[in-house]
Amino acid sequence: MPSTPFIIVAIDGGAASGKSSSSRTLSERFNLLHVDTGSFYRAITAEMLRQRVNSHDLAAVKSALAGIKLATRVNGRSAAMEIGGHVAGDEIRSRAVNDHVSHFAAIPEVRTALLAYQRGLAGVAREKNFRGLVMEGRDIGSVIFPDADFRFFLHADPAERARRRASEGGQDSIAERDRLDSSRKTSPLACPLGAVSIDTTHVTLAQVVEKMAVPLAARLGTP
Ligand code: DC
Repeated sequence: MPSTPFIIVAIDGGAASGKSSSSRTLSERFNLLHVDTGSFYRAITAEMLRQRVNSHDLAAVKSALAGIKLATRVNGRSAAMEIGGHVAGDEIRSRAVNDHVSHFAAIPEVRTALLAYQRGLAGVAREKNFRGLVMEGRDIGSVIFPDADFRFFLHADPAERARRRASEGGQDSIAERDRLDSSRKTSPLACPLGAVSIDTTHVTLAQVVEKMAVPLAARLGTP
């Protein structure tokens, strides 16, 4: 009997485009390891702020990166990044992190420090017997896993995204973050060539998930 395939699903998109909710749902439905790479950039940013490193001071950023030891903790179906043995908590959603994360994420050395780590999570998913990996971010289908089995790009009108973020109670200038994330030189936010682009403005989460689930179910067998 042929063994079940191991799949990699890449979901990219701007802030509040629906990536997190849909990737969590797919992770549950198909038993995929869920990886929120935005939380990695946020955790690195929180650590930089804790060490009082300024994103304009490249030497200080590099020296802080050299001292950071990364590891992974799998909680249920979710992979969390440990920095020095510690998983960051709610502070990664703070106003300070929201305001600085795009600046740190634009630094090529920061992205390089996370590249192999993120790719290595496919191995973690295999070891832990998941049927695959669903990774969300800005450059997953373009840079981290350009050969992913499935690549989706979610987008929504700015007003709708601002409404979603406000309803979560957070203070976040998502338009400004998207501007910075889309205009940076290294791995900018953009729909990768060949990815399936989904407009989530006027559809429910269930409809977005269904659109993505159909090809996954065809590959894995309906769960
Ligand atoms: O998904 P999020 O809004 O929590 O991501 C926070 C920031 O991290 C986002 O503004 C840009 C950066 N990021 C990135 O540059 N690349 C990724 N793959 C994921 C996030």
